[in-house]
Amino acid sequence: MKPQINVGMIGLGTVGVGTLRVLLENKAEIERKIGSRLEVVRIVDLDTTSERPVKFDKSILTKNANEVLDNPDIDIVVELIGGLHPAKDFILRALKNGKHVVTANKELIAKEGTDILSLADKQGLDFYFEASVGGGIPVIGPLKECLAANKIQEVIGIVNGTTNYILTKMANQGSDFADVLKEAQKAGYAEADPTADVEGFDARYKLAILAAIAFTNRIDVNNIYCEGITKISGNDIAYAREMGYALKLLAIAKRDGQEIQARVHPTLIPIAHPLANVNDVYNGIFVRGDFVGDLMFYGRGAGSLPTGSAVAGDVIDIARNINLDATGRLPCTCFENRRIQDMEEVETSYYIRMLVDDKPKVLANIASIFGEHNVSIATMVQKDHCKGRAEIVIVTHKIKEKNFRNAISLVEGLPVVSKVNNWIRVEE
Ligand code: HSE
Repeated sequence: MKPQINVGMIGLGTVGVGTLRVLLENKAEIERKIGSRLEVVRIVDLDTTSERPVKFDKSILTKNANEVLDNPDIDIVVELIGGLHPAKDFILRALKNGKHVVTANKELIAKEGTDILSLADKQGLDFYFEASVGGGIPVIGPLKECLAANKIQEVIGIVNGTTNYILTKMANQGSDFADVLKEAQKAGYAEADPTADVEGFDARYKLAILAAIAFTNRIDVNNIYCEGITKISGNDIAYAREMGYALKLLAIAKRDGQEIQARVHPTLIPIAHPLANVNDVYNGIFVRGDFVGDLMFYGRGAGSLPTGSAVAGDVIDIARNINLDATGRLPCTCFENRRIQDMEEVETSYYIRMLVDDKPKVLANIASIFGEHNVSIATMVQKDHCKGRAEIVIVTHKIKEKNFRNAISLVEGLPVVSKVNNWIRVEE
């Protein structure tokens, strides 16, 4: 048992401040749980002068990362600067110097996790990253530990708060994407450059991490299909709701025979599904295991204190491992290399909204193309009609995406079809 365990932090931005507050404000409680003193002894940040919403001894602030990385007194390094470089170099150096590492850096783990985990394993050190997915929601720990007895069949997540906020507002106000994005930016829920969120890249990193752990499989993030929410209209959400669905940006990973599906895209899910009721900036992660059945993890997926809570939880876990001489007990579990299916091979259902001529044989023409490509129609509703045109909404049965794409491109070319406004995948 060490009388004192020392922490060095790199990065004192939003998540850094949250982590520091949790560690300082619950210090007594945390130390009782660990059985040792836990001190943050150095914090590295390029900005050592700005006031931050946390009370701490400013003399521990430094601009020099070496004061953490090469400091023999530091046991645990917490990396919270984000991005690939220099974060990766800092983490590798910390591990080489015998320090355990905690990070919230989803991009780094999704893209470079293999290098880092293999060094941590080789060194017998802990590398924990609970905060990288779902902010304050515990999901990586549960998948690695509490659910380890299960073969996980699927993980479906709403893992991006910004897009969930935008889609919820679009649903509630009947507004279109561009207008709600502006509102979200004004309210501070979307970044000035919202690309990483609205194009689905943030969710893709998180899915890569979840799928690798859930399926004990190497996941190349580049093989995850990714489509954002920029083409979704208020009409799609309203029609979906009438048909009994909610529209969400889902990160979906499933076992499919010897292969894996991993994809991020806007999706209609039945209103009765627990994910359909995850709204605003909240995140939800639905997990299905072979013995445990269905589980749902729900909570705040971002923000200073929820994310700080997850980072601090990892620090506490490692401190306990140090005291029990049990570090390195959760090594990398990517034992397998099953293939991720190309999106064209995935079987799913589809919602289609299109503007067509309102006259005889139009539906027969469309149905005939669908029939030739084995696309079976489950439901069809005629919505609006004016000036000889009608808007129709179709939901299909499950079909391989390749067949669906071939069919829809021929439908688009029909003279009686003015426009295929949108098509969206449906998760039944
Ligand atoms: N930008 C992310 C979100 C939070 O909107 O959920 C950090 O992962």
